[in-house]
Amino acid sequence: MRLDIVTIFPDYFAPLQLSLIGKAISDGLLDVRVHDLRDWTHDRHRTVDDTPYGGGAGMVMKPEPWGEALDELLASYRASEADADSQSLPAARPILIVPSPAGHLFSQSMAAEFAVAQTLAFACGRYEGIDRRVVEWASGSFDVREVSLGDYVLNGGEVAALAMIEAIVRLIPGVIGNPESLLEESHSVGSQGLLEYPVYTKPALWRGLRVPDVLLSGHHGRVEQWRRERSRMITEDRRPDLLQ
Ligand code: ADE
Repeated sequence: MRLDIVTIFPDYFAPLQLSLIGKAISDGLLDVRVHDLRDWTHDRHRTVDDTPYGGGAGMVMKPEPWGEALDELLASYRASEADADSQSLPAARPILIVPSPAGHLFSQSMAAEFAVAQTLAFACGRYEGIDRRVVEWASGSFDVREVSLGDYVLNGGEVAALAMIEAIVRLIPGVIGNPESLLEESHSVGSQGLLEYPVYTKPALWRGLRVPDVLLSGHHGRVEQWRRERSRMITEDRRPDLLQ
């Protein structure tokens, strides 16, 4: 997968070099390109924001640098397509994810959908957001998805993009060593809509606390049943909405 990120804070994405995502990059499963939006400004102060029409607090990101950044992304996608085997099918419209507290709620199924894309781009806004015409214009060439991480407000799209990238990249085949572990975790298809059961490791007794006997029994059927019951109890307690 090719992953392009446009931001005014490229340093936010340094952690992508770590852990499983870093390994996916070095294994050639993921090609990450982080772009500084200010590279598409033309004034001495490298200005990316201005006051909102209609008044109000805060600043709005100017459309011009975004337009030029996205033009360059599209040109680069076209160049890579031209280099690719001419027998290959025409590529789908590239997906452009715009993190926003006003977006559709991000979910595991969205992560799974994005994980099979050839290319993904993230447009990370700051301040009060990006001039609306950017999304309008970009919808002509990109499959634009405005996506929210949850019902709270972050300072910008960068942290939301990092979280989404981690959720997406770990679903790319080959990124996680044991793909079975993906099936059982909370919010995955295999979890049947329940949160994950609690897990334990050695020692069996720690600071006076014992691991539940059933997990030491070696009885596979009883272990399964115990885990299902625990999943249901935890879901009822913390996320009753999931049981609907
Ligand atoms: N930008 C600011 N807040 C956000 C949120 N909750 N989700 C996605 N992007 C954001």
